[in-house]
Amino acid sequence: MEKVTVPLGARAYDILIGHGTLPTLGQAVAATGLEGRCVVVTNPTVGALYEQPVLAALTAAGFSASVCRVPDGERFKTAKWLGRIHDHLLEQGLDRHGFIVALGGGVVGDMAGFAAATFLRGIPFVQVPTTVVAQVDSSVGGKTGVNHPRGKNLIGAFHQPRLVFMDMAVLATLPRRELLAGMAEVIKYGVIADRAFFDYLRGHVAAILALDPQVMARVVGRCCAIKAQVVADDETETSGRRAILNYGHTVGHAVEAVTGYRRYKHGEAVAMGMVAAARIAHKLGRLDARAVAAQVDILEAFGLPVALPRGMDPNRVVAALGHDKKAAQGRVKMVLASAIGQVELVPLAPDEIGRLLA
Ligand code: NAD
Ligand code: GLY
Repeated sequence: MEKVTVPLGARAYDILIGHGTLPTLGQAVAATGLEGRCVVVTNPTVGALYEQPVLAALTAAGFSASVCRVPDGERFKTAKWLGRIHDHLLEQGLDRHGFIVALGGGVVGDMAGFAAATFLRGIPFVQVPTTVVAQVDSSVGGKTGVNHPRGKNLIGAFHQPRLVFMDMAVLATLPRRELLAGMAEVIKYGVIADRAFFDYLRGHVAAILALDPQVMARVVGRCCAIKAQVVADDETETSGRRAILNYGHTVGHAVEAVTGYRRYKHGEAVAMGMVAAARIAHKLGRLDARAVAAQVDILEAFGLPVALPRGMDPNRVVAALGHDKKAAQGRVKMVLASAIGQVELVPLAPDEIGRLLA
């Protein structure tokens, strides 16, 4: 099993990446010092596939575990369903020695993590991410939360997990579109931090699409290592360093908002946003044309969209940019690449972004 550590002092934790390792989850959790009672939070889709092996692994290691299912979907990542998780924890008599196991994609992970952050003023939790997005991004770094009718992820807390445990074999059941959307976030790491990794991805498209266990472990491991370092440098996104993880997200979020969060997977919108950011950087004289083309090529190789949706009114995208929760004094800090593997934060007014997008 590959191990990446998130170096956060007293709150440091390991990310364990293996293949076919779900039966060893209980031992890995026990090794962190957790004991007693836990609640596995999942959804019906993931639960039907993996809840039994997870429960078996936990009970075999001496834990007493129950399951709390929330409905499958971003629209259920709400205060209401967070409350249902709290209800279940209370019904099970979980006390401050108990813990949560988040089994699923980013929706389950964010919401279960926030339940852990808020229950009895904070209990530990373990992430068992089952999508590519969750494995390379949402399960690492401690951002937890739920959506509010006024926007995504507006209610939340930083709460680091005690352990992130990944069995890459679970990706075999992940719908193809989810796998591809997750690859946008993977490619993002190459652009923001590691040219050699970007080139590795270009050379291993077929192996990744075939879910080659060794290649996938290396890919996910490298993403986690990059994220772990960024999170260690700027855990609560105060210095600006952590904001580099939002490469492609400025325009991506705007596209998601304009299309009502229904038409595109988040990763698909991020793919469009990465190309938009690359073109903007090129127009500003910051990035050469070859680096733009390289991003377009690799995103297309993974079947991801690279152009804004046909017929989409750019004015609506610009209007949505203004609502970006990271906007300050009317300017959006956009992450722009100066080369593959190197990015900077550049404050731009939404109108300016609109002009550069045209
Ligand atoms: P998701 O959690 O909705 O999962 C996608 C779909 O795949 C769901 O239908 C799910 O039931 C299904 N699924 C999950 N694992 C499966 C498996 N192994 N086999 C079969 N089906 C499976 O979506 P996601 O892309 O994982 O996560 C998106 C969420 O993550 C968003 O809410 C986003 O805000 C959040 N996010 C958070 C962070 C963070 O830092 N906390 C970072 C990125 C994204
Ligand atoms: N997904 C962005 C972050 O964790 O900061």
